[in-house]
Amino acid sequence: MELTPPPGPASRGAARILSGLLEARTGQILSESRAWRMETALKPVLRAHGLADMDALATRLVGYKDSHLENEVVNALLNNESSFFRDLQIFDMISRHILPRVQEERSNRVLRVWSAGCSTGQEVYSLAIQFSNDVARWRGWRIEILATDISSAAIEQAKSGIFSQMDVQRGLAVGDLIKWFEPSGDDWRANSRLRQMIDFRTDNLFDARAPIGEYDLLLCRNVLLYFTPERRQTVLRLLARHSHPRSVLLLGAGETVIGHSEDFIPHPDFRGGYGRRIATAGSEPLRKVV
Ligand SMILES: C[S@@+](CC[C@H](N)C(=O)[O-])C[C@H]1O[C@@H](n2cnc3c(N)ncnc32)[C@H](O)[C@@H]1O
Repeated sequence: MELTPPPGPASRGAARILSGLLEARTGQILSESRAWRMETALKPVLRAHGLADMDALATRLVGYKDSHLENEVVNALLNNESSFFRDLQIFDMISRHILPRVQEERSNRVLRVWSAGCSTGQEVYSLAIQFSNDVARWRGWRIEILATDISSAAIEQAKSGIFSQMDVQRGLAVGDLIKWFEPSGDDWRANSRLRQMIDFRTDNLFDARAPIGEYDLLLCRNVLLYFTPERRQTVLRLLARHSHPRSVLLLGAGETVIGHSEDFIPHPDFRGGYGRRIATAGSEPLRKVV
């Protein structure tokens, strides 16, 4: 494990400025463990700009309005942790229970998914793999997958579809790796068919422009964790605006809508999923599946 000493007194002001920038731009509050590793996370930025330390970086940011440098700092400080088929039982529930239900209810043969806070793409590539492995079931359907993240660096990587050996070893079955990825130097690249299934866009949840209309399945996993309660409410209201009464919302394992949303409630059928409150007041009650 990498250990960096906590910022000394001289750097505390700088740490405050930099974490303040992160919060102002993204809503994310630095967790204690990430604040501890701030200097390590910023090392590539310091090196690229010939800056000696965090103090010099903070001074540069305060002295000049340099939006490129601000972007680099924000990208470096965001927690982009992700992996393929993260929380496998959720993906199992998606393919075995949630999607068949959506399929049953949809007459127009269009299925829309939005991953909000998709990071480097492992989550949506996992979904694309599930759809592609089940091609017979989805024949004749249009599958639309929108994947957004505030980090331009994460979105660029996601679009490229390139993952290191270490990335693919985290959660990807060998059969799926061979079937859907191609070697790319020392790395692996998702094949063009998989890449074309996903519309990746840089977008801020607090100024969201990318989502259009309503989505059947919404994923916002491991994103809300570092927002204040007020910001969680704001994001959940946004997700509600882009959902319909039968949509299913999935959050990360440590996240909940309880106490943060008037629109969503724990889904009566899909454990760990959330449904719109209005659905339960509708004429057709949700059936028990899981
Ligand atoms: C820990 S990752 C989760 C990735 C993926 N959903 C998963 O569970 O594996 C959280 C992502 O949320 C993104 N994020 C943080 N604040 C955001 C905001 N205001 N708007 C959009 N994305 C944001 C971060 O850039 C990061 O990629």
